[in-house]
Amino acid sequence: MRVRILGSAAGGGLPQWNCRCANCDAVRAGSPDIAPRTQSSLAISGDGRAWFLINVSPDIRRQILDSPDLLPKEGITGSSSLARDPREQADPPSARTEKRNPYHLSAVRGTPIAGCLLTDAEFDHTAGLLLMREQGGFTIYCTDTVYRWLTREFPLHDLLAPFNHPFWQKLPLDTLKELPLPDGSPSGLTVRAFEVDRHVPRYVHDDVSTAGGSVIGLDIQDTKTGGRLVYAPCLASIGDALAKAVAEADCVLIDGTFWTDDELIRLGISDRPGRAMGHLPVSGADGSLAWLGGLKVPHRAYVHINNTNPMLNRRGPEHAEVTACGVRVAEDGDEFNL
Ligand code: MLT
Ligand code: MN
Ligand code: ZN
Repeated sequence: MRVRILGSAAGGGLPQWNCRCANCDAVRAGSPDIAPRTQSSLAISGDGRAWFLINVSPDIRRQILDSPDLLPKEGITGSSSLARDPREQADPPSARTEKRNPYHLSAVRGTPIAGCLLTDAEFDHTAGLLLMREQGGFTIYCTDTVYRWLTREFPLHDLLAPFNHPFWQKLPLDTLKELPLPDGSPSGLTVRAFEVDRHVPRYVHDDVSTAGGSVIGLDIQDTKTGGRLVYAPCLASIGDALAKAVAEADCVLIDGTFWTDDELIRLGISDRPGRAMGHLPVSGADGSLAWLGGLKVPHRAYVHINNTNPMLNRRGPEHAEVTACGVRVAEDGDEFNL
């Protein structure tokens, strides 16, 4: 499995348009100590040809343009607005193959992106779907709760339907599921979603008690190599499900939003602690690094890093503390082969 970090920053990216924190200032000044970053998203592929996005950030256009594997190519897997998801078609598979290549929208339009999986319903993980409306046949996998919010409060379901009528697929918790390509053939990847937290996005007014499946982690496995990725870009605590998933993983990419719980409070940006926003801080005795740093997983990295997080600066002591544990502070374009 190939894993590419399309965007390693939390909402707002780095630099954030309206922010003058030390990191945002340093990036705008062209500092060699800190890399600019786009908003949180990942791309995975079993065969190196067809790709699935995990979360679709508002920076998706830039991220695709910066990733040669995601660009339109001759004869490569993609999907078409005319050939909807094959499970909705009445034709038997043999009849389908006789038609024009179902992967292409037309002779000049197509994509190697087969679909996406959503780990929550936050804008920074979903708003990019509006920017992919030009291509149809796209499958969106999410939990029931996320689907409800993307139907009701942020109605991507109805907004996208007239453009590319994406096919929405339920992502059940704790269930191993094959990820098919748009033509129904296996992608070589399986996925298992597990709950990491219950958190209601700010634009939703539901009670948290009804938010089962609102924030999930994904355990993705390559059926050929056995390579295993655990992705949890938002997590407020290290629960049993996550601990169990990482025990088998070759690569763990987790929430590195804040260095400290009071990071935004100290900067006068917000009055909410990181944990209340659904993000366990990296540092401290009960922070995520104390746990992640001790895991025997070959590849470990922080993703979804907020622009205020001091570990972003390569020359800072926080960055050194993370890397001394064998953990990477992810950058856009990082790739792993599992
Ligand atoms: C988060 O990660 O906490 C959310 O994306 C917050 C937001 O963007 O409003
Ligand atoms: Mn976010
Ligand atoms: Zn900033």
